[in-house]
Amino acid sequence: MIHPDVKEVLLSAQQIEARVKELAAEISADYRGREPVLVGVLDGAVVFLSDLMRALTIPLRIDFVKWSSYGDARASSGEVQMLKDLSFSVEGKHILVVEDIVDTGLTLRYLLENLHTRDAESIAVAALLDKPSRRRVKVELDYVGFQVPDQFVVGYGLDFAQRYRNLPYVAVLKPEVYAKR
Ligand code: IMP
Repeated sequence: MIHPDVKEVLLSAQQIEARVKELAAEISADYRGREPVLVGVLDGAVVFLSDLMRALTIPLRIDFVKWSSYGDARASSGEVQMLKDLSFSVEGKHILVVEDIVDTGLTLRYLLENLHTRDAESIAVAALLDKPSRRRVKVELDYVGFQVPDQFVVGYGLDFAQRYRNLPYVAVLKPEVYAKR
């Protein structure tokens, strides 16, 4: 059943599941013999992180960070503030940042600058979605699930005004739904 507010499903649950498994196989091979710390970027990355971690075959730890930037708006303000920091030291550890989507790249750049001060052994990034057309700063993505066009997407963890995160697919909403805010 497709949600009545949805205009178009861009990525089905089956497509996402298959791609997450592929990424997990690649990451498990790349990190063999190491125990990475998966750093999930709240709130959007929780669904991707929970599926990805269960498909990984290597030992790992998880932690979370949370940034404020968007509020309920659909465009980045460029102002990013840390609301929740890591819970334990990552000194000497291999960090794998897990992001839902990289849009302007500003959030990720702030996070990477911040993580670079913590003496981790390595830092890599896995993003489920990449929206390269809107990039404002250059950021390196090591693992990407899918590239998406310049449209505001929801589902699989991604929200519009805090809603639709629980949709099992990635979709674009009807224009009148975006216009309501
Ligand atoms: P950036 O700093 O512009 O790269 O934005 C990163 C954050 O903005 C993501 O982690 C999302 O939370 C949010 N975001 C960017 N594009 C979308 C979208 O199309 N749908 C939902 N959230 C988005």
